Amino acid sequence: MALLPILHYPDPRLHTRATPIKTVDATIRKLAADMAETMYAAPGIGLAATQVNQHLRMVVIDVSDDKSELLTFINPELIEKSGECEGEEGCLSVPGIYETVKRASHIVVRALNVDGKEFVLAADDLLAVCIQHEMDHLDGKVFVEYLSRLKQTRIKAKLIKQSRETF
Ligand code: NI
Repeated sequence: MALLPILHYPDPRLHTRATPIKTVDATIRKLAADMAETMYAAPGIGLAATQVNQHLRMVVIDVSDDKSELLTFINPELIEKSGECEGEEGCLSVPGIYETVKRASHIVVRALNVDGKEFVLAADDLLAVCIQHEMDHLDGKVFVEYLSRLKQTRIKAKLIKQSRETF
């Protein structure tokens, strides 16, 4: 397995719309394993392929405390959403920024797993929010885009400054 470099906002590649995965083969399983390792190492609770510059529709998520509930969603589709919740979100592509976003509190998602088998999962609260956040990445959307223009401009400036200080 390998750790993958994570793109940081405002990298324009984060706005790429990912394409569906045609065949769940060894290459995809390797990418899924590398994404999980990268997510755990960060540490984070979710990672979309978009964030590691692989523009395929796949996300990994684990909202458990002990890294025991890894979920891989390939070609995920929301088939139901209801309710509303507001929570503070962060993102491995937007380091150090936490902002409140409104999301559906209950969703049902359909996807393929790493064996290429279809599954349907109902999720609430944190898991539901995390799935919606990661699925947004596949459509080229970063959570800060739900915020006001002013906030987005401030966050962009802060991250550009941070990256200059790091490199
Ligand atoms: Ni994110």
